[in-house]
Order: sequence, then structure tokens, then C-alpha cells
Amino acid sequence: MAEEVPSYGQLQEQVAKAANRGRVTRILELGTGTGVTARTVLAMHPRAHLVGIDESAEMLAAARRVLPAEVALRVARLEDPLPPGPFDLVVSALTVHHLDGARKAELFHRVANVLAPGGQFVLGDLIVPDDRRDAVTPIDGVYDKPSTLAEQLAWLRAAGFVATTAWLERDLAVLVGDLEDQERGDMHHAEEEIRALVSAETAAWNTRDASALAALFHPDTVWPWPPNPAAHDPMQWVIPSEGTTASVGRPPGRGSLTHTIWFITGGRRCV
Ligand SMILES: C[S@@+](CC[C@H](N)C(=O)[O-])C[C@H]1O[C@@H](n2cnc3c(N)ncnc32)[C@H](O)[C@@H]1O
Repeated sequence: MAEEVPSYGQLQEQVAKAANRGRVTRILELGTGTGVTARTVLAMHPRAHLVGIDESAEMLAAARRVLPAEVALRVARLEDPLPPGPFDLVVSALTVHHLDGARKAELFHRVANVLAPGGQFVLGDLIVPDDRRDAVTPIDGVYDKPSTLAEQLAWLRAAGFVATTAWLERDLAVLVGDLEDQERGDMHHAEEEIRALVSAETAAWNTRDASALAALFHPDTVWPWPPNPAAHDPMQWVIPSEGTTASVGRPPGRGSLTHTIWFITGGRRCV
């Protein structure tokens, strides 16, 4: 393999580099071959459990000799249902280009389905370069069916990934697909909502705009509700003792965030 692919070693390094992020405990490798990629990636995540699939029992027998005993190796095709996961990382080097375009696009959806929220897909592979002169790896056009970088980025995005190119060297590339962590995404939106709410509400307070305050302070955004049960005038929605707190934001639950406001007599400060 190394003889056929001029930057083979560099590709393996770049795949491992792209896969070296965060806490990764469960890895799926697509096309383990003789175990080179698995070894490099496991060096980055030594405590992770790796499941490797490959259609060739012979290749996996060679991988078995060099990989730790805990690594699970299964004879399976990329076109078969993938091991169920969830995985933190799905990684593949020099294998997916054996599928045609439609199968690659379909595989990317299945990869997204076996990844945990916030999971990552690292794909190092042969591509069709924009400049024909960069096509330096011999391909047969039958077993090897590389696609362009743009096509693969589009298929990754269609499968729900935030897709980027981590490395590109002539006809080799490392693509990274990140899945949004729904929980983190929700928290981010909640933070933005609260920031906007607090700044609108501070402006309304400063201009003594009671109707703007009344519109901003409602049971969906401030609790306990009402902040000062005795007062009907929003301008009096001040809790008359320093340090009393009320929370602004969405009620507790998934994707909610509490922003505490200290109400103080005669003025207020937000924290
Ligand atoms: C070039 S090796 C790559 C191995 C290793 N990742 C590396 O970079 O050295 C490609 C592997 O993909 C496997 N392969 C090719 N098509 C496959 C498919 N459709 N399903 C599963 N494995 C496949 C081959 O058996 C081979 O072991």
C-alpha cells in the first residue's frame, strides 16, 4: 500500500491528528486492513475500545497480529449494517473510495446514525483532485472509485455533518465530519436568548419603559413568577432587598440556562 500511495505515511499521521480531540472511548474503523490506521489512532486514544470492520478475513488476520487483544475485528462490508454503536469516533483510511458515489453518500448517513451526539467522522482517502496533474496514485477505475473533495463534503453535509477538509495533498485528503451535540447546541441557543433578553430588559429599565419591561418579563422568562407579587406596575417589579435573586431564562430542563439577576432597591445589576 505504502508503495502505491506516495504520501501514505503522511495520510495516516493526518488521520490520527484529525481524530485526536476530546474524550474518545468508542471507535469504529471502516476498512481496518492490516491495522496500520487502527494502531495510529489507538496511539492517540489508548484507552478507547476499537471495533474494526473489513471485508477481507485475510487482512483482519494480519491486523489481529499487530493490534491489542481488546480490539474487536469483524469481517463485514461497508455496505452491510454498521455495528450499532454509539461511537464517539468513526475513522476510515483508504477504504471508502472503493464505493461508488451513491454508496458513499448512503454510507455517510449510516455513519451519522451510529455516532453519539457530538461525535466525529474522520475520513482519510484518495480523491479525484481538481488538477489532473495531482492524480499521482495509480487507480484501476473498477475497484477504485474516488470522488472529488467537493462531492464528499456535500454528502457529509447532507448526512447532517459539519464538514471540513483537515488536510489535502494532491490526490489524498482528510475530511472531518462533526455532528452537533444537540445538548450543547441547545445550551448555546439558550445563552444567546438570555443575553438578548437581559440587554433588552436592562435598556427598558434604564429608560423607565414600563410597557417594554412588562413585555419582556413574563412567566416564560422570569421565575419565580411574579418577581414581586405585591406590585402591578412593572417598574415596581423590584424585590426590595439587596441580594434577592430571580432567574431569567427558560424554565429548567433540556437546553435551558439560568441567568440570575440580583434585584436591588433603587437600581439593579445583572450577573
Ligand atoms: C488500503 S486498505 C486500508 C487499510 C488501512 N486503513 C490502511 O490505511 O492501511 C483498504 C481495505 O478496505 C477493505 N475494503 C475494500 N472495500 C471494502 C468494502 N466494501 N467493505 C469493507 N472493506 C472493504 C479492503 O479489504 C482493505 O483491507
